[in-house]
Amino acid sequence: MDLLLLLFLLLLPLTSAQPNFTFNHLWSLTTHFWDNFLYPANLAHISDNDTSIFTASVQGRVDVTRTFTSRDLNNEYIFGLFSQPNHPGLFGIPIDYNITQFAATQDTVACTAVITFNITTFDLVAPGVITAWFQFSSTGRIAQYDAVFRWLDFLFVPIMQAAGRKFNVSDHALIQSRVADLLARTICETHERYCLGANRQYPSMEACYVFLTRDIRFGQPYEMGRNTLLCREVHDNMVRYNPDVHCPHIGPTGGAYCVDDQTYQEVVLERYFRESWVPENYAEDNVWVAL
Ligand SMILES: *[C@@H]1O[C@H](CO)[C@@H](O)[C@H](O)[C@H]1NC(C)=O
Ligand SMILES: *[C@@H]1O[C@H](CO)[C@@H](O)[C@H](O)[C@H]1NC(C)=O
Ligand SMILES: *[C@@H]1O[C@H](CO)[C@@H](O)[C@H](O)[C@H]1NC(C)=O
Ligand SMILES: *[C@@H]1O[C@H](CO)[C@@H](O)[C@H](O)[C@H]1NC(C)=O
Ligand SMILES: *[C@@H]1O[C@H](CO)[C@@H](O)[C@H](O)[C@H]1NC(C)=O
Repeated sequence: MDLLLLLFLLLLPLTSAQPNFTFNHLWSLTTHFWDNFLYPANLAHISDNDTSIFTASVQGRVDVTRTFTSRDLNNEYIFGLFSQPNHPGLFGIPIDYNITQFAATQDTVACTAVITFNITTFDLVAPGVITAWFQFSSTGRIAQYDAVFRWLDFLFVPIMQAAGRKFNVSDHALIQSRVADLLARTICETHERYCLGANRQYPSMEACYVFLTRDIRFGQPYEMGRNTLLCREVHDNMVRYNPDVHCPHIGPTGGAYCVDDQTYQEVVLERYFRESWVPENYAEDNVWVAL
């Protein structure tokens, strides 16, 4: 046999792109992710040097925020966002989960998890529901994920009610303005502390507070990747881990993350993922794969 052909055939299994994991293996890769999503296990994965969960070029999307490309960003968002029980904010920490829906084939999982969040700022313990698709690399790292926060708008009802109890106010507009005040002061303190030198976004605490409470809208729950206070509240949690990257996200420009750059159509029709989510041969001309 031709030597080159022999070499090619020997190397084929190593280079073939799509792994074919057993169902059990996919279940354990998935529970490994959710186990490490919980606090305090998540603290071990925030750093850029943690390579245990995501591939280097991972692509991720969360419907209510945005797309996140690369391991550094995903380590900071997925594990950093829910990691600070003593930092005032809306997100709290995930302390427990159950998988309630699970299907798996080859390298792909579709799964729903009911997660208990302890939102310590407002003394609220509440379930959040995430449905996510995962695609794993041959080394068992997440190569792609596409996650949806189910009933997030509805979750804001108990969160705002808990905030109302905390502030002792019941009028909805008043609660929102008290929450906005708390978030803005917290974000501006983060800015003063971590966004130094070339990373400064605002000339003063006052300018920061005015911008966050008057110049932009509070935002709807689905607008955590748009030009809103809620979006800057998301990014506030990441600034300390990587000021160079995240300071612009809490600033007036929004740093390409907290911006109104896409219409509804552009968001839902975006061809973001490099790999098809439809098994081979079932969607040969899958127009949804990135060009
Ligand atoms: C993947 O492995 C399963 C057995 O675990 C087998 O039935 C299936 O045909 C394999 N699929 C591919 C595409 O190789
Ligand atoms: C990763 O970085 C953190 C600080 O960001 C450091 O404490 C830790 O030792 C590093 N781990 C490795 C394995 O390099
Ligand atoms: C998960 O299920 C166990 C019982 O199997 C229950 O005790 C626990 O509260 C559940 N957690 C969540 C987040 O639903
Ligand atoms: C939520 O966090 C608070 C503050 O740390 C703690 O007192 C409380 O026990 C936690 N609740 C649960 C269910 O873990
Ligand atoms: C809460 O507000 C009500 C009415 O504004 C007031 O009567 C009550 O004393 C307040 N409770 C606390 C604990 O501050």
